[in-house]
Amino acid sequence: LALPVTDVALETRLRDRMAEVEKALAGHVQSRAPFVTEAASHLMEAGGKRFRPLLVLLAAECGDRAGSDEVVTAACVVELTHLASLYHDDVMDEADLRRGAPSANSRWDNHVAILTGDFLFSKSSELTAELGPDAVKIQALTFTRLVEGQIMETVTPGPGEDPLAHYLDVVAGKTGSLIATSARYGARFGGASREVEEALTAYGEIVGSAFQLSDDILDIASESDESGKTPGTDLREGVPTLPVLMARASQDPADARLLELLDADLTDDQVHAEVLDLLRKHPAMDEARAYVIARAQEAKALLAVLPDGPVREALEAFADIVAVRSA
Ligand code: FPP
Ligand code: MG
Ligand code: MG
Repeated sequence: LALPVTDVALETRLRDRMAEVEKALAGHVQSRAPFVTEAASHLMEAGGKRFRPLLVLLAAECGDRAGSDEVVTAACVVELTHLASLYHDDVMDEADLRRGAPSANSRWDNHVAILTGDFLFSKSSELTAELGPDAVKIQALTFTRLVEGQIMETVTPGPGEDPLAHYLDVVAGKTGSLIATSARYGARFGGASREVEEALTAYGEIVGSAFQLSDDILDIASESDESGKTPGTDLREGVPTLPVLMARASQDPADARLLELLDADLTDDQVHAEVLDLLRKHPAMDEARAYVIARAQEAKALLAVLPDGPVREALEAFADIVAVRSA
């Protein structure tokens, strides 16, 4: 489990349930065409933290039906949707490494990556239908936000629009949405009350955004052996992220070189390396980290509706881990 759970009974339950999710997922990526199975299982087998299914399982623990089959199905739905989006994301970002393995677009090509993403999304839709019309509606709304966020990332903010607000909006759409839905599905199919479902959904939205913000920090700070991705991919693709936006706001004359280079051609290897180096040493990195930690605190405050106990503690730990993760 990508989560330290101190309560032994809860830990055992989560582990057992995650093993069920893992087994079900392996079945869902099967196709009658062997090549499709190979392409669709590629990223799933390469690893992944399974954060979204874990949140489904944790949120389900807040109800009296945590052991229901629907919970496992919902966990598969969110992981398959996430996987699908990664295949497409790596095409858009021209990323060649994911989970320490070659991305689908680099191992095969863009066509294979796009269609495999579509295949996984279809599988996820098929499963969502098993959860009933409300789940289908939630899934559709989530998908709308996911795609809107991803598209808005490619559009620079309009004149007079605050770049940070634009960026946070992108992040909420492309990542907050699916993590919020993970919490909602878990609460709903686990049998939690409406009040708890709404609180956990709001918690998931903030934790999800924090998750993406730390991902953006890691894009600058971490090496491939840690993140399983190529450092500086966002920079190379011209995708603005929290540390960059914070550094750009700097009035410090010592930042003149960095600000100049940020507007230069970041696909040039030398420029890219120098910017990465300057950013890594920049106080904006710690400023960004502090911002993420503050969001995690906000998310944890929403857990006040839950009774004290191991489940609430685990959800608190989940928010903390997302804020300070290193991979
Ligand atoms: C990762 O961001 C990307 C997302 C969280 C969402 C991507 C969404 C789409 C491509 C649209 C959905 C399409 C389908 C078929 C589901 P990132 O590039 O910042 O993260 P990374 O560092 O993990 O690459
Ligand atoms: Mg990417
Ligand atoms: Mg991307």
